[in-house]
Parts: sequence; C-alpha cells; structure tokens
Amino acid sequence: MNGFIYNIPVKVYFGENQLCHLGEELSKFGSRVLLTYGGGSIKKSGLYDQIVAEIEKAGLTLFELSGIEPNPRIESVRTGAQICKDEHIDVLLAVGGGSTIDATKFMAAGACVDHDPWLFLSERAPIEKALPIVTVLTLSATGSEMDNGGVISNPETQDKLGRGAAAMLPKVSFLDPTITYSVSPYQTACGSADMFNHIMEVYFNTEQDLYMLDCFMEGMMKTIVKYAPIAMKEPDNYEARANLMWTSSWAINGFVDGGRTQPWSCHPIEHEISAIYDITHGLGLAILAPRWLEYCLDETTLPRYVSYGVNVFGIDANLEPMEIAHKAIEKTSEFLFDTLSLTSTLGELGIDDTNFKVMAEKAASHGLDHAFKPLSAEDVENIFKMCL
Ligand code: NZQ
Ligand code: ZN
Repeated sequence: MNGFIYNIPVKVYFGENQLCHLGEELSKFGSRVLLTYGGGSIKKSGLYDQIVAEIEKAGLTLFELSGIEPNPRIESVRTGAQICKDEHIDVLLAVGGGSTIDATKFMAAGACVDHDPWLFLSERAPIEKALPIVTVLTLSATGSEMDNGGVISNPETQDKLGRGAAAMLPKVSFLDPTITYSVSPYQTACGSADMFNHIMEVYFNTEQDLYMLDCFMEGMMKTIVKYAPIAMKEPDNYEARANLMWTSSWAINGFVDGGRTQPWSCHPIEHEISAIYDITHGLGLAILAPRWLEYCLDETTLPRYVSYGVNVFGIDANLEPMEIAHKAIEKTSEFLFDTLSLTSTLGELGIDDTNFKVMAEKAASHGLDHAFKPLSAEDVENIFKMCL
C-alpha cells in the first residue's frame, strides 16, 4: 500500500439557500468578478438572476462570459483568460456543470501567464498560479467542483486533453441540490454514468489498498444505482438529488485514491470519442464501461469483479467466481441501458470504425500499458469495435 497526502481544501456550502453566502465568499478575493456560464440553462431556471442579485448586494463589479460549450473549447478558455487580463479580474465565478467549471479553471490559470493556455494541455506547460475560482454547481456529474482537473477540446487538432494542478482547485463550491431539479432525465443519466465510472476507474485496480476505501466506493456506487432512477422520474426529489450531488464530488476529489496511482482506462478512451464526435461524456462512458469490463476479465482480474458483483449488485456470493463476474457485467449493462435508458452502442450514434485506429493510438498513449489490465492500441481498438 502506498502512502498518500490528504489535502482537499475546498470550502463547500451544501444545501438549499446557501447562495446567501456567495457575496461574502467572493468578496474575500477582491471586487472584480468574472461570471462564467454555459448555453443559458441558468437564465431559464432563474439562477442567473439570483446570482446577479447576490453579487450586486455585495457591491462587487460583475463581468460575464457566457456560451461555454459542453466539451468546452480552447477558444472559450482563451477569451476568458484575456478578459481576466484586460479587466483585472480578482475572482472567477463558474456557474454550471463540468464544462463551465473546467473551462474556468484554465481561464484562471491562463490569466497568470503570457502564453496560449492550450500549451497547458498540449505541452503540459507548468501551472503554478491561477486566479481564485468559486463554483456554483448545476449538474451532478464530473466532480469538477471539488477536484483540480479539467478537460478541454481543441477542434482544430481533434484533441480533448485533461490536466490537473493544485492551483486550479476551486476555493469555494456551492452545492445546492435544488439547482439540479431542472436537469433533464437524459443529463441526469449521463451524469450518473459519469460519476459511477469515476468510482469504477479506481475500484478496478490491482494496487493494494485500504478495505475501508473499497467499502466507501461500493457504498457510493450503490447510492448511484439507488438514486439515479429516482431523480430521473422525480426531478425535484431532494433526497435523490442531494445524494447524487455529494457522490459526484466525493467520487473524484481524490479521497478514494488512497495512494493508488494506476492510470484510468475508460476516461482516456472516452475522451477520444467526444473529441471527434462531440458526444456527451457520460454517454460515451456508459457505452464503453461494460465492454471494457468484459475485455479485462481474466483469472488475474477476477477477484475485483466478484467483490463488485456481490457488494454493489447483491449477486449471490456462493456462485462460481466467474459466474458472479459475468452477472456483474450484465447488471452493469442493465443499469446503464435499461434503468438509465442510455443508448448502448456507438453505431446508434452514427459512429463507425473510420477513426478507431487513430483514436486507439492516442488513448493508449495515456499510460494504458500500466492500467488495471494493460491495454495496447490494438486492445483499445478491439474495445471500440465491441461498442459498435
Ligand atoms: O450550457 P447550459 O445551458 O448550462 O446547459 C448544460 C449543458 O447543455 C446542461 N445543464 C447543466 N446544468 C443544468 C443544465 N440544464 C438544466 N438545468 C441545469 N441545472 O447540461 C448540459 C451538459 O453540461 P456539461 O457541463 O457539459 O456537463 P458535465 O457536467 O457532464 O460536464 C462534462 C465535461 O466535463 C468533463 C467532460 O469530459 C466534459 O467535457 N470532465 C471533467 C472532469 C473533471 N473536471 O474532473 C472529469 C470528468 O471525467 C470529465 O471528463
Ligand atoms: Zn468522467
């Protein structure tokens, strides 16, 4: 078991009506605020008016950047970083899902350097400083509200690349489950598939770790299995939305890693799909996950599948281990495709094998030869083909 550092210094306001603290928190960082948001869901829901009122009440100066795309583009990051420089912004306020928050993180870092922010991703240019970031989460999924990473797309190069840096960790995040009442059943399903996968990426691991963390992850996966369908059917069910929201943050804030360093598998593979075809990240993961589980199953990896099947899906522990593993994969597919009603193949999304070779090579270059089951570019291509 590896040693580790636990340090997750994000101040979280969780629950209804916490936005009354927004002005006071922003003020701690200065008076010039850049509000960033996406395509307008926050205007439709009334959240925008509420945020602006809080900022005005605190006497702060507001600047805005709207239109941040799902699978956010580097161009939005460039624009935001430039506004920060031109307007001497003190603090960035990201109001949205993972896309808005991720883009804002790179704007905050881009504001502190003279070079193109794309170099943070393409060349891994150092990220030593970033302007302070506050978030108001509107969609439970990526965990960006409580982690230091972000993923940005560059349509010119057909790349979608991720990067983390301590400086980009939000200082404060507001998590009000009622804000997610307006999330559609489809986005709720995609977000749930995403957070489920964040846990799987760590759970399916060959590095030894704490039993306590395994139980914690199994509990979070059970939480998603229980509450995602409820939130889809009853969008304003507070208990369901609250459980999903807190799970989204804890699935990926670093706590469950507990010193494990093995590279993730499904995420680098999925990012190649959304880089080219601009599909929703959680949907891509849902299509990949059961195929990846099937591909990685062998006598060596089997024990993880058994504990997953028994402890998450309640499969009879007395069955033969291989039977438990197959049933566990079946249950995963049932959850994603039947319960969450997500599309189950890439073919149905109009994606064929034209780009699989290039996509597989790019994905495999993210350390997949050291993953839970080491994967070559050929293996990744085989997994893509299983998804057709
Ligand atoms: O843009 P608006 O109009 O706000 O609409 C959004 C968008 O269309 C809508 N939405 C968000 N909150 C809503 C809402 N609609 C109604 N009511 C609300 N309260 O949902 C759509 C999707 O939003 P987006 O932010 O794109 O979704 P998500 O949170 O799933 O973020 C996905 C991005 O995050 C990256 C993904 O790759 C993808 O680019 N990831 C970031 C990670 C991280 N920072 O650690 C890890 C993840 O694994 C992931 O890779
Ligand atoms: Zn994800």
